[in-house]
Amino acid sequence: MITKLAIAAGLATALSTAAFAQADLSGKVIGFSQIGSESGWRAAETSVTRSEAEARGVDLKFADAQQKQENQIKAIRGFIAQGVDAILMAPVVATGWDDVLAEAKEAEIPVVLLDRGIDAPEDLYLTSVASDQVLEGRVAGEWLVNEVGDEDCSVVELQGTVGSSPAINRKQGFEEGIASASNIKITQSQTGDFTRSKGKEVMEAFLKSSNGGADICAVYAHNDDMAVGAIQAIKDAGLKPGTDIKVVSIDGVPDIFTAIAAGEANATVELTPNMAGPALDALAAYWADGTEPEKFIITESKLYTAENDPQGEYDRRKGLGY
Ligand code: AHR
Repeated sequence: MITKLAIAAGLATALSTAAFAQADLSGKVIGFSQIGSESGWRAAETSVTRSEAEARGVDLKFADAQQKQENQIKAIRGFIAQGVDAILMAPVVATGWDDVLAEAKEAEIPVVLLDRGIDAPEDLYLTSVASDQVLEGRVAGEWLVNEVGDEDCSVVELQGTVGSSPAINRKQGFEEGIASASNIKITQSQTGDFTRSKGKEVMEAFLKSSNGGADICAVYAHNDDMAVGAIQAIKDAGLKPGTDIKVVSIDGVPDIFTAIAAGEANATVELTPNMAGPALDALAAYWADGTEPEKFIITESKLYTAENDPQGEYDRRKGLGY
């Protein structure tokens, strides 16, 4: 449902903060309910959010939910009690937000969703800045279809956090991407919770139950951190990641570009960590003259492979707080 709504809203290009003079939001206090620090991408989003807020003079109140929805709900209630001017929130899962968002609405505090969608009435938040996560999965799936041609290919899938919008949508998108290829099948699929350690652990189990990995043609991970964990598991099993088992994932973190440059990963779909720039620009316009932003501000999803200067891409990202 989240994705259908996003598509229905059209592909509003994310505002590039570089392209516009940044509004001065001095005096504004904004609460940021972050999920945690499960991945390199998440760490970069936190760091970019802090610097985008600072660049506009925002007093940012940061709350780390350590991957728990109950902590996020508590933090949002705390922000409401403090009377913040707005709330940014990256929702860990898609459901269960109606009550707390209704409380924020009642207090007339605009809420902006970052990087994940929710299954709740749209009038409970001002806008959502996120990628088209179904598209991300589809891009990854279509890459694999082109890569393997007519060869039979058994894919193992490392899913993100259960109940989160990227896990739901990236799964759906990948399945759509490979739907035209009857030679490609997902043979095992399990959550690795978006973390490197669980990605490795689950991949070890997949390898054991697949003839030591001989029966696996590719791993599709819902984020790069799980792919990096899987790469380690593949190496530990005596196989060559990127060659014996292809690796495709999502995020575009520096470590995956290092792996692509070394031939140990094959492709990644980039997710920008700068969700806060467009979010703060939307809030600035809203406060300036009541401009209602697009309900869904969709960021770009670009595929990178060994042909796209992986070392250069690593260098461009390494200072961003990953
Ligand atoms: O919601 C975005 C996802 O969350 C990123 O792909 C992943 O790395 C993070 O944990």
